[in-house]
Amino acid sequence: MIIGSYKKNMVEKKAVIIANWKMHKTSREADDFVRKLASHARSIPAQVMIAAPFTAIAAASMAASGTNVLIGAQNMSPFAEGPYTGEVSARMLREIGVRFVLLGHSERRRLFFETNETIRQKVERAVVEGIQPVLCIGETLEERESGKTGQVLTEQMRACLEGLSSEDLRTLVIAYEPIWAIGKVAATPEAAEAAHLDCRQFLQEKWGEETALQTPILYGGSVNPKNIKELLKQPNIDGALVGHASLDVETFVQLIKG
Ligand code: 13P
Repeated sequence: MIIGSYKKNMVEKKAVIIANWKMHKTSREADDFVRKLASHARSIPAQVMIAAPFTAIAAASMAASGTNVLIGAQNMSPFAEGPYTGEVSARMLREIGVRFVLLGHSERRRLFFETNETIRQKVERAVVEGIQPVLCIGETLEERESGKTGQVLTEQMRACLEGLSSEDLRTLVIAYEPIWAIGKVAATPEAAEAAHLDCRQFLQEKWGEETALQTPILYGGSVNPKNIKELLKQPNIDGALVGHASLDVETFVQLIKG
């Protein structure tokens, strides 16, 4: 039984809104976006974070410096360093201003064959290197229709967080992104809430109440300025992971202002 929620845990917490730019924006475009966003940042009632493509991270970080906008990456190597052609390490990312990293996004699982085990290694690496892990989980339409949503989500969390202690999970963020909702139509607030509650309950069973209550659980999948408000009203939806509605700065500002 859950007796509290992230939002109401001790002090009222701000919603966490993460932009996932995916494979969009050059350095110059990122710089321009972040400057415009930062001019609104003080009046924004949310913790705003941007997951930029590798090549745009340095420019985005520079533009965000001195503001409360955090910059992160969309992927990271599970290895510290070594002969891993094409990989980018946590240390490299930290040096250019990365504060958090998206791990296990369904596009990486589906198109680049990432397994729960690789994702687990990446989460562990992020924890060791002091980068905040944002673990993405979500079910397919088929899994939902056969009533397996809760089971799929808890299995992904179990496998991707195996061996980590509640201390390790202090900075964890969970992003629930139903695969059928990405780039299509958002889950209803009630369906999303039910899935978030399953996640929160699993965190509590496995790592205790403190971890369950301090972990923001974000919803992702066709979030836009029109549906964000209803989603955030749900007791266990602590923020959003936003794809296409994060690409245009005016739309994104409208979204984060609620
Ligand atoms: P959309 O907001 O474009 O549906 O993308 C969601 C997503 O995958 C964010 O990580």
